[in-house]
Amino acid sequence: MGEIKQRELTLEQGEQYYIRTASETNAAAILDLYRSVLAEDRYTLLLLEEMQRTEEAERKAIADEIKRPGCLRVVADVDGLIVGMARVKAGGLKRTAHFGDVDSVWVHSEWRRHGIGNALIDTIVRWAEGNKGIEKLGLFVFSTSEAAIALYHQNGFMIEGRATRDIKFAEDDYADTVIMGRMVD
Ligand SMILES: CC(C)(COP(=O)(O)OP(=O)(O)OC[C@H]1O[C@@H](n2cnc3c(N)ncnc32)[C@H](O)[C@@H]1OP(=O)(O)O)[C@@H](O)C(=O)NCCC(=O)NCCS
Repeated sequence: MGEIKQRELTLEQGEQYYIRTASETNAAAILDLYRSVLAEDRYTLLLLEEMQRTEEAERKAIADEIKRPGCLRVVADVDGLIVGMARVKAGGLKRTAHFGDVDSVWVHSEWRRHGIGNALIDTIVRWAEGNKGIEKLGLFVFSTSEAAIALYHQNGFMIEGRATRDIKFAEDDYADTVIMGRMVD
């Protein structure tokens, strides 16, 4: 099942927060978080004005993921506020079921650099280590997202490849797609 035991963690200033499995009731808060990252206009393929995901669709996606053994979506909850999330989805085919694709790794801009991103990725890695079917985790990240690349490096991911200039932010403003991965013990 795509669920974890809730982890209780502490921010440097002593405030407690939780990393736990996303629930359907978090759908609206997750969409708010997603919109806040889209509004930054630098970290996503999608533009804010292209975002069409509804709360109903998000609720259904969360419910489906919880039922799938190779999926996990976790959120960071500070006093009931959803400030971060990350997701991993194993492939749906026999030849891809061993591979967990990590996506939607977001920490709200006001909550960055407090260790929350690290806690989210560490939780996904630990979950994968306890999930016999998953042998590898992988992801795509923009070459311009230095914070994310450093976060993944810190959690054992290596750069495996690069697609040059396949992201265009604006005229003369491009990024490469960086492919990162790590084996799961
Ligand atoms: C990437 C992101 C999730 C990191 O979240 P975070 O909570 O700030 O990360 P943490 O505080 O746990 O930092 C973990 C490590 O990431 C790296 N890091 C985080 N922010 C960084 C920054 N601004 N510059 C360089 N490295 C950074 C560091 O290695 C850091 O470890 P350290 O604190 O020991 O130096 C967050 O910046 C974010 O949501 N960015 C926008 C969305 C995005 O790019 N998502 C990734 C999509 S592939």
